[in-house]
Amino acid sequence: MQALRTNVQSLRGTIEVPGDKSISHRAVMLGAIARGTTTIAHFLTGEDCLSTIDCFRKMGVDIAQNGTDVVVKGNGIAGLLEPQEILNVGNSGTTTRLLLGILAGCSFHACLIGDESIAKRPMKRVTEPLRMMGARIDGRDGGNYTPISIRGGSLQPIHYTSPVASAQVKSAILLAGLMADGTTTVTEPIKSRDHTERMVRLFGGEVITNGLSVSVTGKQQLRGADIYVPGDISSAAFFLVAGAIVPNSEIVLKNVGLNPTRTGIIDVLQQMGADLTIENIRNEETEPLGDITIRTSKLKAVEIGGALIPRLIDEIPIIALLATQAEGTTVIKDASELKVKETNRIDTVVSELRKLGAEIEATEDGMRIHGKTALKAKEAIVDSYGDHRIGMMLAIAACITEGTVSLKHSEAIAVSYPTFFEHLQVLC
Ligand code: S3P
Repeated sequence: MQALRTNVQSLRGTIEVPGDKSISHRAVMLGAIARGTTTIAHFLTGEDCLSTIDCFRKMGVDIAQNGTDVVVKGNGIAGLLEPQEILNVGNSGTTTRLLLGILAGCSFHACLIGDESIAKRPMKRVTEPLRMMGARIDGRDGGNYTPISIRGGSLQPIHYTSPVASAQVKSAILLAGLMADGTTTVTEPIKSRDHTERMVRLFGGEVITNGLSVSVTGKQQLRGADIYVPGDISSAAFFLVAGAIVPNSEIVLKNVGLNPTRTGIIDVLQQMGADLTIENIRNEETEPLGDITIRTSKLKAVEIGGALIPRLIDEIPIIALLATQAEGTTVIKDASELKVKETNRIDTVVSELRKLGAEIEATEDGMRIHGKTALKAKEAIVDSYGDHRIGMMLAIAACITEGTVSLKHSEAIAVSYPTFFEHLQVLC
């Protein structure tokens, strides 16, 4: 249990958040199936991305990691070897789902296992389309939950219409599609993050995007590439919100990824009236990034739903906290995907923020938050339930809470932001 800082008077300074989790995973994966050397700078050394490295090493890929610098020596997809051990995906949904996409094209057997949280997350959304392509998959509940075993091989292309707006589903099918005979297309209900598409192009592959459909043709040869991973906007989000709600604050976040499929949090902050500026935008062709400054702001409630949801799905816990400090009722809807994240984030956000006095209620597909509420606690004990984003949201909530707050399972934060508490300390 960790005592959290409460009643923080001001947050000031400049930080650079760690590399983007989604991009770090993909850089290792594409590096492993490409031919030649891939160098990755500003790689996220969070536990999730280390799980990805570990799985590919177990398939014989030469991966050297020195802090945030990673070098992957790929021998093409045919260079992957049958793992001698079970592949452990840890807490990482992205590792599980994207890896299944790659394994679908490999003619060997592999078995995937993860932690308690992974064992509850639905995998049918990828195992079903991968089976349609020809992969043989088994697992608990007919292949819906880990442990999952897979034997891939020669794949046929499909046109898959996904019922969910999920980049993990889209990416798993596109990665399998890279190994199929012909053109594979995925159509999504709403556009999700497009890091896989951008990165396949960077590795010399062709991906065609047409509205909500994305296509790849199989048997393309990818070549190793040099990648700089921008800061993770999903990690920056905690300090963007902290800067807006802690009094007397001004925080500069350097080199934050600004891919438009991820910037819903910035749209929400601006709609709420936050004092935010973005400068030095660059790399718009590959993965855009820039520097963001946020200052203490007077905020008003907003309604969040529809096409905005996939652009901020991971930021909803911290947006819920933001909304407690906005004047009026904020409604978050169309977000039932929150129920199948590392925890059921509708339940965990509502139960833990209530312990600090927030006026928040769960709805079928989101939540309603009434503001503005002064947060107060008398020796409150809050719990991340092993969910990194819930843990960080609660640490920021404590900053504006009067009283004392302790966090259970704070170690989960290392999944995506191992230096989170150091950065908070620097800004205090
Ligand atoms: C991710 C996609 C999102 C997101 C997750 C990372 C990715 O999940 O929540 O943290 O890297 O593709 P879904 O695809 O399940 O929406």
